[in-house]
Amino acid sequence: MAGIAFLLNGTPVRVADMPPTRTLLDFLRETRGLSGTKEGCNEGDCGACTVMVTDEGGSRALNACILFLPQLHGKAVRTVEGLSGPTGEMHPVQEAMVTHHGSQCGFCTPGFVVSMAVAHLNGRRDHDDVLAGNLCRCTGYAPIIRAAEAVVDAPVPDWMKTDRSFILAQILKSDGSMGTEVSKKGAGGSGGTTVPPAVPSEAFRPSNSDDLADWYLAHPDATLIAGATDVGLWVTKHLRDLAPVAFLNGVSDLQQIERQGGMLHVGAAVTIAALREAVQDRLPSLAELFRRYASEQVRNAATIGGNIANGSPIGDGPPALIALGATLHLRRGDDLRSIPLEDFFLDYRKQDRRPGEFVAGISFAEQAPALRCYKISKRFDQDISAVCGCFNLTIEDGRIIAARIAFGGMAGIPKRATHVEQALTGQPWTAATISAALPAFAQDFTPLSDMRASAAYRLEAAANLLTRYFHDLNGSPVSVLEVTP
Ligand SMILES: Cc1cc2nc3c(=O)[nH]c(=O)nc-3n(C[C@H](O)[C@H](O)[C@H](O)COP(=O)(O)OP(=O)(O)OC[C@H]3O[C@@H](n4cnc5c(N)ncnc54)[C@H](O)[C@@H]3O)c2cc1C
Ligand code: FES
Ligand code: FES
Repeated sequence: MAGIAFLLNGTPVRVADMPPTRTLLDFLRETRGLSGTKEGCNEGDCGACTVMVTDEGGSRALNACILFLPQLHGKAVRTVEGLSGPTGEMHPVQEAMVTHHGSQCGFCTPGFVVSMAVAHLNGRRDHDDVLAGNLCRCTGYAPIIRAAEAVVDAPVPDWMKTDRSFILAQILKSDGSMGTEVSKKGAGGSGGTTVPPAVPSEAFRPSNSDDLADWYLAHPDATLIAGATDVGLWVTKHLRDLAPVAFLNGVSDLQQIERQGGMLHVGAAVTIAALREAVQDRLPSLAELFRRYASEQVRNAATIGGNIANGSPIGDGPPALIALGATLHLRRGDDLRSIPLEDFFLDYRKQDRRPGEFVAGISFAEQAPALRCYKISKRFDQDISAVCGCFNLTIEDGRIIAARIAFGGMAGIPKRATHVEQALTGQPWTAATISAALPAFAQDFTPLSDMRASAAYRLEAAANLLTRYFHDLNGSPVSVLEVTP
């Protein structure tokens, strides 16, 4: 890869001589003087650093604090400074925030305004979801939501449309004379000293999975970076040096979703946002789980392959996919193998993945009417699961003929509730069967107590979820957002 080039607030920028794990947030604030993008948490939680990123797939909001510069190659970035018009006129969402008193201390405001401007550009009206990843401690959300609602029908300003028409080839064609070239040596000003474009030698950015497979086989100790929503924190919080690294966001064949013979084949680098959209109609409970997966900004970056590969016992993707009977596809050099997803998780943070082997994709049934996914967390939005229970029973003629039940947060790995499944299989679909199966949870799980929940709470909550599932399938779903007398 010859240098990192992207469009920044309408101006082509080429970056040289910087570590591959330099975050966009640090770059903006320290090298470009663009301090409107704020640093709050530096770990993807607060949205103060939200920027708009545009490529062939459209425009989306991302957190600049856990976004590495090579992830932006060939894209367009717009910060809060780039939201106003060429002669300083305010963006409609900026005006609405003033009119509706959406800002007090103002620290969160640039992030909110960028999220709202992206949503406005994309015609979104689900303001609660769009803004769940932006934290405001002063104003309260009501005036902010009122501001977002006030502008839904306002025309998109012309200057907000230019990033889309500025195609990749033009950015890549740009040389030092066309834009500003920035190097570590030139840091400190808003321009920069011109040095020959240099790619960080320890960063690899393949465009297809064949190249990735060859490179990873030759560099088995390297770190793969997909959305960087986990890896970003290793850098910003744990100050780890990760080189060598390979960035997967340019690997186009890992970003495909295909439907074939009733199955969905999903590439490892498909984002949670894209997957949520793909399963919206036929797996609505999974789509609803993904609505509660982190925030808009994180879902726009995080990939399903990263969610599986990191092997977290509290990841939301694996329990649902295990309940669906998903097959995981792995690749090492030219060797491809496919395994049931549950077999991938061996022990706490230990997966069945050989050196130089990567997750290529996952396949699962595109339809499962009895699938239900329940996430238990302290907050509805933007929170990690204390317990995530996913149920998928096959019931014929009033009898349970097959059961797949998987949990996150109940063991060191995402795990099936095999004893509960056995207690249910072959039995009539009745409340008595459910009650009789509940004690089996204690055979399947000995959960831990931690800051999210005690072991006793987890065990009781898991068992209660089976009861909830029974009522849900029988036509009495529980809405955790409603209080009923
Ligand atoms: C604020 C915040 C909230 C979050 N909330 C949730 C949540 O609600 N639910 C949830 O499940 N997770 C949550 N997460 C965790 C995170 O978003 C997920 O684990 C995410 O899916 C990781 O994907 P990624 O593409 O960002 O992975 P990365 O961070 O790029 O990588 C994660 C790990 O996977 C490896 N990897 C990535 N792709 C591959 C591949 N194709 N093959 C082999 N190895 C690979 C990397 O080397 C690394 O070890 C949250 C994270 C943040 C920062
Ligand atoms: S600084 Fe909080 S999400 Fe980036
Ligand atoms: S106005 Fe102060 S945090 Fe939002």
